[in-house]
Amino acid sequence: MHNFVFHNPTKILFGQGTIKTIGPETRAWGKRALLVYGRSSLKQSGLYEQILASLRTAGLEVAEHGDVRANPLVAHARQGIDTARTQHVEVIVAAGGGSVIDTAKAIAAGVPAEHDVWKFFTGKKSLKTVLPVTTVLTLAGSGSEMNSGMVLTNEATGEKFGFGHRLLHPKTSILDPQTTCTVPPDQTAFGAIDAISHLLEFYLTTADPDTSVQDRLMEGLIENSMAACDRCLQDPLDYHGRANLMWTACLALNGLTAAGLGRVGFPMHLIEHSLSALYDVPHGAGMAVILLGWLRAQQTALGKRIASLGRRLFALGEADPQLATEQTIARIADWLASVNAPLTLNDLGIPAADIPRIADNTRGLARVWRLADSTPERVAAILRHCLA
Ligand code: NZQ
Ligand code: ZN
Repeated sequence: MHNFVFHNPTKILFGQGTIKTIGPETRAWGKRALLVYGRSSLKQSGLYEQILASLRTAGLEVAEHGDVRANPLVAHARQGIDTARTQHVEVIVAAGGGSVIDTAKAIAAGVPAEHDVWKFFTGKKSLKTVLPVTTVLTLAGSGSEMNSGMVLTNEATGEKFGFGHRLLHPKTSILDPQTTCTVPPDQTAFGAIDAISHLLEFYLTTADPDTSVQDRLMEGLIENSMAACDRCLQDPLDYHGRANLMWTACLALNGLTAAGLGRVGFPMHLIEHSLSALYDVPHGAGMAVILLGWLRAQQTALGKRIASLGRRLFALGEADPQLATEQTIARIADWLASVNAPLTLNDLGIPAADIPRIADNTRGLARVWRLADSTPERVAAILRHCLA
């Protein structure tokens, strides 16, 4: 196990009845808040009223920045930065899924900055100070509620980039599983797939051979993501199913599982971000396709590791490593099919002829993320494994 620092400062308030705490939790960081939310779900579910009431009761003045879309845009975050500056906002409140929380983080980073917020994403500027962020999570998957990452799309350049900094951890996140009972089946599955893909990135890119604590944690979280997702799809109102999925997805990308693994990469996310940037596919849907292609492409190089995952996850009895690897990938594909996830580029409506264009689009982020192995040629080879 490698040396590590694990310091996650986000306070989590988990469970039923916790929404009403967003007011006092936010008031601790300022008096003027910017409430950031998405397109329609927050108002439809009645959460918008509850959150606003809690903020106002706690004595906060609230400005608003709604209409965050999935695969959120830096142009829209820039508008939020302008609003926050004119309203002299001191604290940002995000109420939604990963897209909303990431937009809130970008606003929090952009308000004190003397340059455009996109420069953080391209690595041209480093982050020195941010406004505090609190969140009410309404969709399990991204992990943004308890991590230091944010992901935005720049429509002008056709880039979807992710940036991480310890200052971007939310101060407090409210996780009431009840709020996710309205998440439709496709987004529920995409969230679970996203959590699984976060775990697989770490599980399969670590070069450390002796990390059994992290391995068992990751295998357990993958198993739970699948099982909890199945429960939620069977009964969308299953509170404990929703609770398990919410906490699993949060733990999957809050720094815990990667602690001690040494340098790990996000090569599957690299490719998916290009799919989302170019075709606006939901992140989890793109991840389903890419992770299958990536596993197939790595069958030889990572066969032992994939087989060992399959033995733990699916109790595979197969002794032959190559067969066990193939069976593991097949079982993952079966599960993805069972939750109606897309399995191929074709399922996403992306033609094979576009592979060079997608591979070329990964160049910029590969440079920023220092993924030297992910050359356009290798990316194209992985994408060809996503065709069938
Ligand atoms: O806009 P509204 O109407 O709210 O609808 C949203 C949106 O259409 C809906 N939704 C959210 N909560 C709901 C709900 N519908 C019904 N009931 C609820 N309670 O769901 C749709 C998708 O929302 P979105 O926030 O886009 O989904 P998710 O949470 O999966 O976030 C995806 C984004 O997170 C980024 C992705 O790239 C993508 O842009 N990621 C962020 C990461 C991070 N910050 O660490 C890491 C991840 O790897 C990921 O890249
Ligand atoms: Zn992800």
